[in-house]
Amino acid sequence: MAHAAPFPQDRTCPYHPPTGYRPLSEQGPLSRVTLYNGTEAWLVTGHAEAQALLSDPRLSADQLHPAFPNVAARFERIRKEPVALLGVDDPLHNRQRRMLIPTFGVKRVAAMRPGIQRVVDELLDDLLAQGPPADLVNAFALPVPSKVICELLGVPYADHEFFEDASRRILRGDTPDIAEEGRDDLKAYLGELIDRKQKSAADGAEPGPDEGVLDELVRDRLGTDELDREGLVRLALVLLVAGHETTANMISLGAFTLLEHPDQLAALRADPGLIPGAVEELLRYLAIADAISRFATADIEVAGQTIRANEGVLLAASAINRDDAVYADADDLDVQRNARHHLTFGFGIHQCLGQNLARAELEIAFRSLLARVPDLRLAVPAREVLLKPGDSIQGLIELPVTWGRG
Ligand code: HEM
Repeated sequence: MAHAAPFPQDRTCPYHPPTGYRPLSEQGPLSRVTLYNGTEAWLVTGHAEAQALLSDPRLSADQLHPAFPNVAARFERIRKEPVALLGVDDPLHNRQRRMLIPTFGVKRVAAMRPGIQRVVDELLDDLLAQGPPADLVNAFALPVPSKVICELLGVPYADHEFFEDASRRILRGDTPDIAEEGRDDLKAYLGELIDRKQKSAADGAEPGPDEGVLDELVRDRLGTDELDREGLVRLALVLLVAGHETTANMISLGAFTLLEHPDQLAALRADPGLIPGAVEELLRYLAIADAISRFATADIEVAGQTIRANEGVLLAASAINRDDAVYADADDLDVQRNARHHLTFGFGIHQCLGQNLARAELEIAFRSLLARVPDLRLAVPAREVLLKPGDSIQGLIELPVTWGRG
């Protein structure tokens, strides 16, 4: 019997789905794939089917359950301990999420815009002062969301090298041991930070300028039925990792993709009013979080197939976002199209909590980068730009750029 295609696969072009996903979508909205450990799972590539499944309470996100499909050995290892929000089902998920909804709502994010603009302006000041060439990942794409999430949570940015490295080990460590150590190091760090915050709250200290959401959670929720120390550490870990890695990848891959589509870039430079729509289109096109994972808790009929209880279900956002039943000429980047309803932030109860913040950061980052470095260009041939592996969040490892006479 023929083996089902492997999943996930590496991209060959940084902004297109892996070439092996096309034959799978051509088989229909659901197909079978083989994971790294030889187990089979369902792969969803159809947009309507993905939305239906992600709204279906018979699909579980419980990462501790043996049926949960992991796309790499390191994720299987770190999911032996509970993962807040992303890895739990309602009603526990809802209790955790409710505590954070005001923080990530439209209003609070709108109030953060001047702070995000300041962060972006300072980084661009430094980039321009240093002169070309530069690695746009380290000089801009990573520090923007890293600084913003630090200010929001109340984590000292001075520790960024440590927590960025720990996140990298969790998401892309070469072995399960490396990923687990990354997770444990980050948990220990956040535990100590929370203890310090708890002590200053107990001492009756006035809220200081370096305080943030973690301080609010310490003051208002810690020690209630809703939240113990371990729970707060796990929540902080998810917020810190999700809050910087993803957006950093979108900035680096988004900048690269625009540089590779000069007509689209020219349209944006001519009319910066197109930026919010362009951000939405880049989110659709790049689908950087490409393996949303669940398992069925009961038999589910969908698109003429039966997903059996305890079978894994993976949703490939890169293929779903190119479904031509939803988007005309889906493989074309078109910053003027209506790209809404893409699956890059997921769908249903786990839909990205940070999406308002991510959109604000991306809009400000791209608008300012294009305005202040109008002749930005790649400093190496596009094929030499290194992409992250297919089993992690997609993004660039480095983005060598130049400008002016550099
Ligand atoms: C462009 C950037 C981002 C992308 C592409 C992205 C993508 C996603 C996706 C696909 C999910 C759903 C996963 C699932 O259903 O299994 C998710 C959930 C989540 N994201 Fe984001 N994210 C981004 C930025 C952020 C930011 C800035 C934060 C801020 C802390 C954040 C926090 C979260 C959290 C806490 C969840 C879990 C929500 C839940 O389970 O209820 N994300 N994100």
